[in-house]
Amino acid sequence: MTLLLNAAKSVPKAAFYKSLVRYSSSLADSGLKAEGEVPLLIVGSSRDLVNRVGTQVEVRTDFITEYEEAELLQELEPGLKKKRYEFDHWDDAIHGFRETERVTWGAACQTIIDRVRSVAFASGSSLLGPVHVLDLDKAGYIKPHIDSVKFCGSTITGLSLLSDSVMRLVKNDAPSEWLDMLLLRRSLYILRDRARYDFTHEILKDEESLFNGQRVPRQRRIAVICRNLPA
Ligand code: OGA
Ligand code: MN
Repeated sequence: MTLLLNAAKSVPKAAFYKSLVRYSSSLADSGLKAEGEVPLLIVGSSRDLVNRVGTQVEVRTDFITEYEEAELLQELEPGLKKKRYEFDHWDDAIHGFRETERVTWGAACQTIIDRVRSVAFASGSSLLGPVHVLDLDKAGYIKPHIDSVKFCGSTITGLSLLSDSVMRLVKNDAPSEWLDMLLLRRSLYILRDRARYDFTHEILKDEESLFNGQRVPRQRRIAVICRNLPA
């Protein structure tokens, strides 16, 4: 996948604001919330920004079950294990990763991919055929970038396997405007429209992986990413 890499932005200093919380589920095993509480999934540099851009950003916790996660891993691991993590290209957007693309899936995984696509894309949209599978080492991370507008359309959606993580969005022309998204293991995120075009996105490295002031330890993480085609 060709990425347009933007210059690294400074770490936001602004206060965190509580965001709209639209999904709740049992997160007892994450340690980030006590059972029964509604999880906070999106925080940002201002309430106004969260309200404006929050509509173009979605996080759905527990989008897949542990069993479905295991099915995806079973299908993906043999191919990934043959590759080596790449750490050496410091100018790349992604550090400490291996990746693959997959067009055909076994029946069980195809059902999961279909569910992802039906949630993220309007029916009848033209989709990028191959699903992008990005395996980040525990020490791997994704620097701020905007996905190529030449190859990808207005919507990017991803399932997170194996690890919780923090995705940060920073406004292109105003680095003090940012949103952090808590991507728990087995959650689905969706970036649309302005969130996709006007903000860089990144996955924080383990040492910097904080959400709303709370540490979110990073393990090896596999993202299963679906995109649509440019209009
Ligand atoms: C990418 C990307 C995010 C993720 O590959 O362009 O931003 O969830 N990935 O791994
Ligand atoms: Mn990207």
